[in-house]
Formats: sequence, structure tokens, C-alpha cells
Amino acid sequence: MLSLAVLISGRGSNLQAIQKNIESGILRDKARIAVVIASKADAAGLIFAKEHGLSTAVCPSESAALAALAGQPIDLICLAGYMRVLSADFVQKYAGRIINIHPTLLPKYPGLHVHEKVLAAGEKESGCTVHYVDAGVDTGKIIAQSRVPVLPDDTPELLAARVLAAEHILYAQVILQIAKGQSLTG
Ligand code: GAR
Repeated sequence: MLSLAVLISGRGSNLQAIQKNIESGILRDKARIAVVIASKADAAGLIFAKEHGLSTAVCPSESAALAALAGQPIDLICLAGYMRVLSADFVQKYAGRIINIHPTLLPKYPGLHVHEKVLAAGEKESGCTVHYVDAGVDTGKIIAQSRVPVLPDDTPELLAARVLAAEHILYAQVILQIAKGQSLTG
């Protein structure tokens, strides 16, 4: 049973997808969320977390997040829309045990406003990436990707929604792989 910390900053739809897979999907008896850490008190994902009986902590600073993680066995830290760059010290402390989901096919389009950039570049496909976290921004070793088409009349919002649906499937699949002891190649 993999013990997860899920770090969020906002909506928390990836958190929801992970928890729903734990409750009644592919992560049942494979993983549990030990704590949800939000960088902001108004992160909407906290409401879902509390409704589902998850332990939560609001941690505006990295030192607060480290304190919330300390003292409990965490196998894997899942960044799920966590809009902070972790320090080298944090990454070192949990080396090889932090993963992130990003809404493009990395190494293309790291950072922000990615769907606008994908459309402006005339890409025919996009997707999402789960990768290990290193001290860079969206730069760690790639674990898995899922592709979606870019359609002729796409807007950033339409593309984001298509990619997000793929994220919700991919993140749980990667966590399952790790829970099974596979794909720990980072
Ligand atoms: C997701 O699309 C995730 O890939 C992205 O933020 C969104 C969070 O949505 N993360 C990044 O851009 C990280 N570089 P959620 O709060 O509904 O899970």
C-alpha cells in the first residue's frame, strides 16, 4: 500500500481523480492519501479532500510543507497542480519520490499558458506528462505520457479540458505502476 502526499494549489481535479481511483478504481488497496497539502487556504481541492475524510494541511511556505510531511511515512509525493517550484533541498530530501503531472508532451512547453502556446505553434497533437521532479521547472525524467489530438477549432479551454481528461487517467496509471514496483527508473 503506497502512502501518498498530494500537493495542490487550486481546483484539485487530479487529486479527485486519484482519490476516486483509490475509493473504487484501479488504486483500490494499492494506495492511500496520507495527507493533502495545499499552498493556499482557498484551494478548492481542500473542500473535496475534507468531504472525503482526507487529512489536510495549508502550507503557504515550503518549510510548512516539510513540517506537514515530517513524522509520517510518505512513499510518494504527487504534485497535482502545485504551482510552486520546490527547492533543491526539498527535492534532495525526497529524491526519486516526487512526481508531477504537466499538461503538455514534455520537454515541449514547460511552464505556464501552455495550451495557448501549443495552439500558436500549430501543433497537431498535445497531451500530458508524468515525470519525476528535479530542481528544474518541469524538467525531471519522464515516466509516462498520454497524447490527445489538437482539433481545428480548438480554443485553449477546449484543449485544456481534453488534456485534463487524459491527465486524470494517466496519473492513476502511473501511481499504480509505482505501487506495483514497476517503472521506478528515475
Ligand atoms: C493540471 O492541468 C496540471 O497538469 C497543471 O495544473 C492543472 C491543475 O489542475 N499543472 C501544471 O501546469 C504544472 N506545471 P487540477 O488542480 O484540477 O488538478
